[in-house]
Amino acid sequence: MGFWKASCSVLLVCFFVGLCSMYQCSAAEADANQTVNLIVNASSGRPIPETLFGIFFEEINHAGAGGIWAELVSNRGFEAGGQNTPSNIAPWSVIGDQSSLTVSTDRSSCFDRNKVALRMHVLCDSEGNNICPAGGVGIYNPGFWGMNIEQGKTYKVVIYVRSLGSINVSVSLTSSDGSQILATANIVDSDVSNWTKKEVLLEAKGTNPNSRLQLTASRKGVIWFDQVSAMPLDTYKGHGFQKELIEMLEDIKPQFIRFPGGCFVEGEWLRNAFRWKESIGPWEERPGHFGDVWMYWTDDGLGYFEFLQLSEDLGARPIWVFNNGISHRDEVDTTTVSPFVQEAIDGLEFARGASDSKWGSIRAAMGHPEPFDLKYVAVGNEDCRKKNYRGNYLEFYNAIKRAYPDIKIISNCDGSSHSLDHPADYYDFHIYTSASHLFSMTHQFDHTSRSGPKAFVSEYAVTGKDAGTGSLLAALAEAGFLIGLEKNSDIVEMASYAPLFVNANDRRWNPDAIVFNSSMHYGTPSYWVQKFFRESSGATLLDAKLQTNSSSLVASAITWTSSVDGETYLKIKIVNFGNRQVSLKVSVDGLGLNSLLSGSTKTVLTSSNLMDENSFTDPNKVAPDRSLLENADRDMNIMLSPYSLTSLDLLTESNNIRMPQTNSSARPSI
Ligand code: AHR
Repeated sequence: MGFWKASCSVLLVCFFVGLCSMYQCSAAEADANQTVNLIVNASSGRPIPETLFGIFFEEINHAGAGGIWAELVSNRGFEAGGQNTPSNIAPWSVIGDQSSLTVSTDRSSCFDRNKVALRMHVLCDSEGNNICPAGGVGIYNPGFWGMNIEQGKTYKVVIYVRSLGSINVSVSLTSSDGSQILATANIVDSDVSNWTKKEVLLEAKGTNPNSRLQLTASRKGVIWFDQVSAMPLDTYKGHGFQKELIEMLEDIKPQFIRFPGGCFVEGEWLRNAFRWKESIGPWEERPGHFGDVWMYWTDDGLGYFEFLQLSEDLGARPIWVFNNGISHRDEVDTTTVSPFVQEAIDGLEFARGASDSKWGSIRAAMGHPEPFDLKYVAVGNEDCRKKNYRGNYLEFYNAIKRAYPDIKIISNCDGSSHSLDHPADYYDFHIYTSASHLFSMTHQFDHTSRSGPKAFVSEYAVTGKDAGTGSLLAALAEAGFLIGLEKNSDIVEMASYAPLFVNANDRRWNPDAIVFNSSMHYGTPSYWVQKFFRESSGATLLDAKLQTNSSSLVASAITWTSSVDGETYLKIKIVNFGNRQVSLKVSVDGLGLNSLLSGSTKTVLTSSNLMDENSFTDPNKVAPDRSLLENADRDMNIMLSPYSLTSLDLLTESNNIRMPQTNSSARPSI
């Protein structure tokens, strides 16, 4: 019965999808002659804030642990099961049966903030009547749904170990069943009666995206392990980040990074909220915590310092969201919020204080004596309606402005339709909605008051059935919305899509901009849309008027100067959110008499079906397609595909014609 119901729905969906695409084709053909004018005035413009487009990183969907943070071991300190013993050591598992070893947890670690250690009692031996199996017995860690181990790459394994006798422990990277040894080394020591740190470098002889780390022994005895880490040596700028994923961010040139959440900052309960002080200092000493909103443990190797470092490495302004004494389910009263305020002030000193200040000295000891360029903070996340928000907010606001007058403070209360009843430099605006609604919100800020705090659209996305796990439809609606933000960038100073990353093995939220597993990744159409906007921050917005009755078209035009070649480009973006092909007549007015438009490209994001998505097997199904625009001129005709985002990129110059970036068919690089 269930099967037939499911099959019938699938058939019905297929029928309608088929019908829709047929309709789309015939409508497109029927209206091929629909002509719309776009008049761009290049003679004057208004500056777009440098900060306009950035990213919002949240520890959600294993975006950090098991994602951008390159640590391969999950639950490296055996703390994930809780601070009490016996504790669940998952995902660690045992190699061998009960006659050959027993594994338990105790609180004997040398680290005061994470006392749980693993005790491995090897019962078998290399001689006698209980001989250990070949390869020994021990424990293994599969990482986050398999470790990606690559031939020729080197991995640094760190282990804290203790034993009353001598030890000979094999440290190996193997396939998921242990049968393929990719790299191995032995830790041999006759005296580890005190906790001892051991490091080995393992160079992989083979590649396997579903590998594990195993620690095995073949001699009777008791060995304790704690804080077991395995990291590739090759990380982004040597700072511990997974290179390929961060390069995806580099590619969209984010002007800021809002971190570390979202709901992650709030916690379902305050006791489980992210607390920056627990996430700094030597990684071995960090207690880790269970994020009870997205329901997983993080060892907090990716902590406050690492977020600041990543911002610096990407040349993006850090925007720190801190907990304001409010979680989803409990709140600290304003009369007792001062310890939380002090925690925030200390966090600012950690980021910006002198290297001999109390908190700044910890930053310096972590390898960054110079202050980080932290200038923006958000007091909580989505807490405006909470009972104590205003009271708590004001305590934070006053204390921060007193200590750091230049810091810009972001309120959780939306000031787009009415004035805020409290002081703020920015207000947060979050929107998750359907495609048609978000597209219509291209006008959201047209009538917002121009006085008062600026808007920070720190979370936006199409969600629900329009979005699936990342559809073209969602992306186009977002593109329409972003064009509206560009046009209103006198009041909207920052915007970021949410969420940024999803590990495909732990989809807590759909859709997301970048999807990955241990070895593969791709951008959803929403990711690609952001690339169309990467030149907008700091550019000049030109007047671009569409002459049409259609509400399915939106367009904007900017000029921007490349820091690479020093040339000035004109970029026109148009979203066709309708099912009809449109013939667009573009006129660029106001160029100087001798100015020319040349060497131009046209980049289009579209697909044969509106609900098309990318996937590991077809990562570029919906990706920008760039080609040369032969007829670039002050007046030109452009055909806009149904349901598409088009960018026209024109080199403006006053004398000779030049061609920029001529690798025309580059797909998907734009
Ligand atoms: O982006 C996902 C979540 O959506 C964020 O954690 C929260 O701020 C919002 O509700």
